Amino acid sequence: MNKFITFEGIDACGKTTQINLLSDFLKLKKNKNLIVREPGGTQISEKIRNILLDNNNNISDETETLLFLSARSQLINEIIIKNINKNNFTLCDRYIDSTIAYQGYGRGLSLDKIQTLNSFATGDIKPDLTFILDIEVSESIIRLGGEKDRMEESGMEFLEKVRYGYQNLAKTSEDRFRFIKCMNRDIKDINDEIIHNVKDFYKGALDE
Ligand code: TYD
Repeated sequence: MNKFITFEGIDACGKTTQINLLSDFLKLKKNKNLIVREPGGTQISEKIRNILLDNNNNISDETETLLFLSARSQLINEIIIKNINKNNFTLCDRYIDSTIAYQGYGRGLSLDKIQTLNSFATGDIKPDLTFILDIEVSESIIRLGGEKDRMEESGMEFLEKVRYGYQNLAKTSEDRFRFIKCMNRDIKDINDEIIHNVKDFYKGALDE
């Protein structure tokens, strides 16, 4: 058990809100936890983030993939492994499954190659639990509003493929996935479902 939890979903699905609420719950119960985001979380990874999200950059799909993986590798080595070793919770906003969904399903790159690259970049460190927050693409577009970064510029059709990718991931044999339907539900209700899953999974390991 690594006390490592990731949050996934298409843009504007509400990950950040739910991560903050879970962190508050854990803190209330005196469970130390660290929130990190991808791409980012270290000085180098934040620099890579700026390259990836800058609208002025014309980046090939392969370069894009490798940049996300470089940012991830630095984050896992510099921050996440150390936090896991302290036995604290790590709550990560996006991780390996984002690359499967966005670069694999979205851009159409080989899923097998991405799996191999993910495992190389992370030393095979996987989360215990992965929450996939599902919303409709039309809702994502509304929530994103006018100003978009380079990834958000990819459009509706792209996001449909990404959403489908997440739906498929949730159906795989890996039992870490928790698929949370978020359309037309209030924030508190979604938070309750997430906390219920966390309590259930960590039973003895959670200070309550
Ligand atoms: P961000 O502004 O953090 O979006 P969000 O709040 O939705 O997480 O930007 C990250 C963008 O990068 C987002 O569009 C998803 C994308 N992304 C990938 O395409 N592949 C990846 O491996 C990761 C980590 C993110």
